Amino acid sequence: MAFYNLKGGVGKTAAAVNVAWEAASSGVPTLFWDFDPQAASSWYLQHDDGLQRSAKKLIKGRRPVGAEVRRTAWEYLDLLPGDLGYRHMDLLIEQAGGKPDALADLVRPFAEQYALLVLDCPPNFSRLSDNILRVSDLLAVPTIPSPLSFRAWEQLREHFKEEGLPRKRWHRSFRWWTVAAPCIGIG
Ligand SMILES: Nc1ncnc2c1ncn2[C@@H]1O[C@H](COP(=O)(O)OP(=O)(O)O)[C@@H](O)[C@H]1O
Ligand SMILES: [Mg+2]
Repeated sequence: MAFYNLKGGVGKTAAAVNVAWEAASSGVPTLFWDFDPQAASSWYLQHDDGLQRSAKKLIKGRRPVGAEVRRTAWEYLDLLPGDLGYRHMDLLIEQAGGKPDALADLVRPFAEQYALLVLDCPPNFSRLSDNILRVSDLLAVPTIPSPLSFRAWEQLREHFKEEGLPRKRWHRSFRWWTVAAPCIGIG
């Protein structure tokens, strides 16, 4: 499940962390991958010191992604931390062959261990975001009630059409809906 929006500051990180925590609290083995170089989710989950080795090694397959998984303080909730190196993600995906489903190959092995993978995404159109949009079974697009936010939503719809991405799986969620989710006692 990916939390994505072209716009920043709309509640992607807050919603992603809450949903992951809710799932884990219900006993669902959950892995959270923080793709944002700002690593805000990783801060919530108390591991904001980045990857142990370079993002380059991970994306190029020279280091197993599993080696970077951190246990969090919450049972059933593990984390792949955000890292400043992810700001070069598009270049890394390109150097690794530029496959549109490169991310799918990286996450596939986790299916054995986790029932839910939550992705927190940086706000832009990029090779990474296209990979994320392809790999997700469910796409949540937190949206705030402002004209530019709705414009970003329309731009995303256009992008899906142009790239032939699967549209039936996505959901727009208004940010205030996520307020209803219980606050996490962390951070
Ligand atoms: N449901 C919400 N209600 C009110 N404020 C929220 C809600 N979700 C997020 N915020 C606040 O909005 C700001 C941006 O949220 P964040 O999740 O970091 O956005 P993004 O990841 O899209 O950049 C933060 O200050 C956060 O605390
Ligand atoms: Mg964020």
